[in-house]
Amino acid sequence: MTANLLLARRSFLAAPAAALFAQRISLSAAAVAAMKDAYRNVFLIGTALDFRRPDEFTSEELELITSHFNALTPENSMKPGPIHPQQDTWNWAPPDALLSFSADKRIKTFGHTLVWHAQTNPWFFENANRDVALARLRTHIHTLVGRYKGRIAGWDVVNEAINDGGDATTAATENLRNSRWLQTVGPDFLTQAFGFAREADPDVALHYNDYTIESGFKHQSSLVLLKRLIADGAPITSVGIQGHWSLTGLTPERYQQIDDAIAHYKALKLKVAITELDVTLSGAGGGQLGGGGRGTPPPPPTAEQLQAQAEAYAKLFGIFVKHRDAVDRVTFWGLHDRRSWRSAQSPLAFDRDGKPKPALDAIVAAAPK
Ligand code: XIL
Repeated sequence: MTANLLLARRSFLAAPAAALFAQRISLSAAAVAAMKDAYRNVFLIGTALDFRRPDEFTSEELELITSHFNALTPENSMKPGPIHPQQDTWNWAPPDALLSFSADKRIKTFGHTLVWHAQTNPWFFENANRDVALARLRTHIHTLVGRYKGRIAGWDVVNEAINDGGDATTAATENLRNSRWLQTVGPDFLTQAFGFAREADPDVALHYNDYTIESGFKHQSSLVLLKRLIADGAPITSVGIQGHWSLTGLTPERYQQIDDAIAHYKALKLKVAITELDVTLSGAGGGQLGGGGRGTPPPPPTAEQLQAQAEAYAKLFGIFVKHRDAVDRVTFWGLHDRRSWRSAQSPLAFDRDGKPKPALDAIVAAAPK
């Protein structure tokens, strides 16, 4: 073989290798295109998780957390039931572990949640009149918010106080859920809780957080409630739209409602966070507990479903970006599909193995350039 021929043969071999190499680079670049970097100048990108055990996460999962997210919410460990199961018992280890991780990685942490009808042990209400229940709530909030003062960027003060559904009549009212808090304290349990949180930390952002408040009668009730809280001097800074959505529920009308709802909250001079985002492929959206669930792995999603989910996420992020002056954070409810509370419905941007789904690229592509 002559030298020339040898050269020609080498470049013939090199060409596809170079093409392959280039392709591998662009594939791995796509795989590492980080959400938090794409949205660095727009809003925080969060995930929800807990350090229940020291070895909770694999090294790949830790890498996923630190490369894509700059905000964390404890999925369960700061809720009243888990953290304060009895009047004189506190479980500090899991939230402490989360906060030491987030401090180490310079990730902002958002507290969830101080007052809720669910995951709250009955001792709060045992033999309690209004004053006793309020005193217990004040101690709860002061102890928890006080312990983490300066280390938590915002608290969901009250979670899910508004009833589901409703009609044209309830839409003109707050339509409060008939919770033990409402029964024992009365409708000012919200204002009281916001006040206690502000006493405990003068600087922290304070949220009202709920699901489906962007839509229909429940949205109208949310405006009635928020206006009352503001008029009563509750130190509320932000509204958390949970954002548990489903492909079936995300109709053109629903996107418009989300867009409008953010504008309405902004008009009340409140910040908005999307606090628990997920988009299920089928079945339940909404924040009701018990839908979807962890358990037997579902059949893998089809390419069409993954594409539809990617398009839904792109549209949602388009709306959040449009309102970037008000939206300061978008948090996904879970790290990847296997860890999601709606795991059977594959709702997140990473699959059961923590690998990027088409949604990830779509979300990154929706970021302003
Ligand atoms: C869910 C958690 O993800 C589950 O692990 C737990 O079993 C129940 O609560 N709205 C909320 C969240 O505000 O706290 C809920 O989290 C999901 C609905």
